[in-house]
This record gives sequence, structure tokens and C-alpha cells, in this order.
Amino acid sequence: MDQTPDALPEPLNVPPANTAEQLSRRGFIALSAALGGCAAVGSPKTDAPVESAARNPAPAKTTANNSYRTPTVQGPVPRNPDVNQSANFNKGVGVTHTRVMVSGNFVAMTFDDGPHPQNTPRLLDMLRARNIKATFYVIGRSVDLYPQVLRRTVAEGHEIGNHTYTHRLLSKLSDSEVRKEMSRCAASVETAAGVRMRTMRPPYGGLLQHQREMIFNEFGYPTILWAVDPLDWKRPGASVVASRILTGTTPGAIILAHDLHAQTVDAMPATLDGLLRKGYQFVTVSQLLAMKTDPATAQASITSP
Ligand code: NI
Repeated sequence: MDQTPDALPEPLNVPPANTAEQLSRRGFIALSAALGGCAAVGSPKTDAPVESAARNPAPAKTTANNSYRTPTVQGPVPRNPDVNQSANFNKGVGVTHTRVMVSGNFVAMTFDDGPHPQNTPRLLDMLRARNIKATFYVIGRSVDLYPQVLRRTVAEGHEIGNHTYTHRLLSKLSDSEVRKEMSRCAASVETAAGVRMRTMRPPYGGLLQHQREMIFNEFGYPTILWAVDPLDWKRPGASVVASRILTGTTPGAIILAHDLHAQTVDAMPATLDGLLRKGYQFVTVSQLLAMKTDPATAQASITSP
């Protein structure tokens, strides 16, 4: 849209090297094409590839396709089953996650860079119609602008995660600046909706190992990356976004998308219905972490208060 999100840097979503390797192995996405579109990606050992892009972020033109209207759903839509699953994962779950080993066809749908005044409510309608709970990695600055959208998101049972206050590349910041990005976003979310977040996702996927550990130890947030990236921020078309997600998703996957973009939301009816028809059940990120099938961890998450 033409409003505030234009001021936000375009999400690059450059996966860390190990994730890139995984994705490429599975043939989830045309990763080579993706990397070709991002400046100087390729060094396996640091977050340096995203530096130049972060210094000079391309203007995020989230131009709306005003002619597009999401088709009205005729008749009942597929419904996500009620999942009575604890969200109480414990520290033994680990610092970084792109997917979670689970028994069962559980996946976590995640939406970054909101709240957005039009696109997020439209997405919430779609999720509600299907009884799907998702996880929203919100930008604190946008929460301050649209607190009512965050309150609705929380009221409808979705999980909120920390995506920093200003959406900067954390790997270039000092520890104290990183703490400030985390705590300011946390304060905005607590002020707006009275909830504490349990996990974080770094903008552009860029976070050094020592920063991940610091955040885990000080804030209790595991770093949540992703296993499926439809590259929706490049606006390839709603049907492409849907088919990339449907092709790439496997049990335990954490799926990345952006409710900032109208086209991503346009893709969701087909995406969500397609995954439901394949038998996937949607849970939040914390629920997915809590069902990790390591016996010790599973037992700890059940017995911890
Ligand atoms: Ni982002």
C-alpha cells in the first residue's frame, strides 16, 4: 500500500547459509534466482552479504494491485482442527529454529513486518474463517501506529513475535542497540495488547551467533528463521506465492510470508486451503516448539510450570 510501510526497508529475507543449503537441496524454491536478486549474496560464513543492501535498502514500494479482489468464498472453507497443544516450550528447545521435528503434520504459518492497517485485518478474516492460528512477527514502530490491529490479532488467538522496533539489520548493531531493538518492540506490544512475546525473528534473517545466544539468555527468545520462503516480498504473483508454499511445505515447517504485502494476502486463501487439503494442521510457533519430539525436551515442556 502507499501508506506507512513505504518507509520500511524492503525485506531481503536472505536465509543463512545452512538454511539456503537445505532449501536448495529440497528444491523448495528457485534459490539461485532469488539470490541473483539480492546484492552480493553468497558468503557462507557471515551476514556480510546483506550489508550493502542494508546500507542502501531499495525503496519498499508495496504498490497495491487495486484491481484485485479476493474472491468471495462460496460455501464452507476447509477448517483447521482445534489443536489442544501447549505453547509452553522450555529453554532446552534450542537457540535457532528453521523447522521443528514433530510427529504429525503440524506446520507454523508466520507473517512478518506488520501490523498493516488494511492487509493484516484482511488476512485475519481469512484465518478466522478457517480456524487457523498463525504467528505474527511485528515491527514495534508499526505496532505504535496501529495498536488496534495488534489487539485484534491477539484477541483472535494468534501469537505475536518480536521483529525489532525499527527493522534494522541486527548483525551490524552493538549488543546494546540489539537489546534496545528487542526491548522497545516488547514494550510496544505489551502496551498495545498486554502480551509478552516468546520468540523473535531477525529482520533479513541477519543475526550473529553470539547475538542469538545473548537474546536467548536475556529475553528468552529463540531465533526463529524459516524452512519455506516463497519470496513473496518480490511480488511474483499470488498464484506463484501459493504454489511455492504448497510445494515447499513438509511436516514441522516454519513458513515465511509477509502481511505487509497485499499480494501475499491475496495468495492466502489458495495457500491455506491447499495446505489443509493436504492434511496439514496449523499451530503457532510456540506450540510447534513445544511439541518437538526430543524425548527429554518433550517431557520437560510437559512438566515445566
Ligand atoms: Ni522483516
